[in-house]
Amino acid sequence: MLSLADFTLTELETVVQTAVSFREVLSRRTPKVPALQGVVVTTMFFESSTRTRSSFELAAKRLSAEVLNFTPGTSSLSKGETILDTAKTYLAMGANLMVIRHQDSGVPQVIARAMDQLNSGVGVLNAGDGLHAHPSQALLDLFTLALVLNPDNPSTSLLQGKKIAIIGDILHSRVARSNLWSLSTCGAEVHLAAPPTLLPPGFAEAFANQSDRPGERSIVQHSSLAPALHQADFVMALRLQRERMAQHLLPSLREYQQHFGLTRDRLICCRPGVRILHPGPVNRGVEISSDLMDDSSLSLISDQVRNGVAVRMALLYLMGVGKTASE
Ligand code: NCD
Repeated sequence: MLSLADFTLTELETVVQTAVSFREVLSRRTPKVPALQGVVVTTMFFESSTRTRSSFELAAKRLSAEVLNFTPGTSSLSKGETILDTAKTYLAMGANLMVIRHQDSGVPQVIARAMDQLNSGVGVLNAGDGLHAHPSQALLDLFTLALVLNPDNPSTSLLQGKKIAIIGDILHSRVARSNLWSLSTCGAEVHLAAPPTLLPPGFAEAFANQSDRPGERSIVQHSSLAPALHQADFVMALRLQRERMAQHLLPSLREYQQHFGLTRDRLICCRPGVRILHPGPVNRGVEISSDLMDDSSLSLISDQVRNGVAVRMALLYLMGVGKTASE
């Protein structure tokens, strides 16, 4: 699972429905099933992470898999071992699934290709690579949206025709890119808004043109907030990724907050019942006002984190079932 660019609507729906089952498991008194007993999952995070790594680890444990956590700072990487040799080391230990995050785009693909060439049967899950993709985040966002639209029967079809605004540092966001694939495949209307330095002119068109059916994807971009928020059903704010900003792309955080920060007042032009998402971590008070972030009648941030475990259980299950050495 490297990118959502090649996910069909049916595949997105399969993930949602599998996550529904695991959400039920997580609500039990003993939230654990033996589905991946004997399967070895390694989490290899070459870039820092709080929620994604913990979420994959918990998901693997709740499926009864064995989990090996790799942290570059304390590993042989600091002794000069290459990333591919690290992956081969885990393969030799019997790893079946590798969950990989890296600051450079393409690293999970390179490892997946190497694992295929070795005929290893290892499944690689991209947990965020550079600016390229963060599929599990977009899938948990999709699941969260579908659950809000119908808590008893969440489905990708509910997204058809919904207006979703994505606001902020789109240029540096793998979360935005993955969401663009999944939401537009579901037939949602995606509206992007950011200062031009964080959303270059022509971005939406260029993005849609990477697809084999660009005309069917509804992606619109704006250089101000109001048209994106107008009649929006959902608003997703993105973190300003200051660690990835090579030059000064913003005059100041304060100016960004004044023009693009989400506040209660600014949401008035959205549809009644609008809900707010953010992948986290949040620059509190910059992308979203502090009170809005903590208002659980509007903010879905905690739901996203909670639903992330069910979605990652679904992904590990769909990729890992039948992978134990004995089968
Ligand atoms: C995102 C990421 O790492 O891409 N965070 C996450 O996984 N929840 C977004 C970000 O870092 O801003």
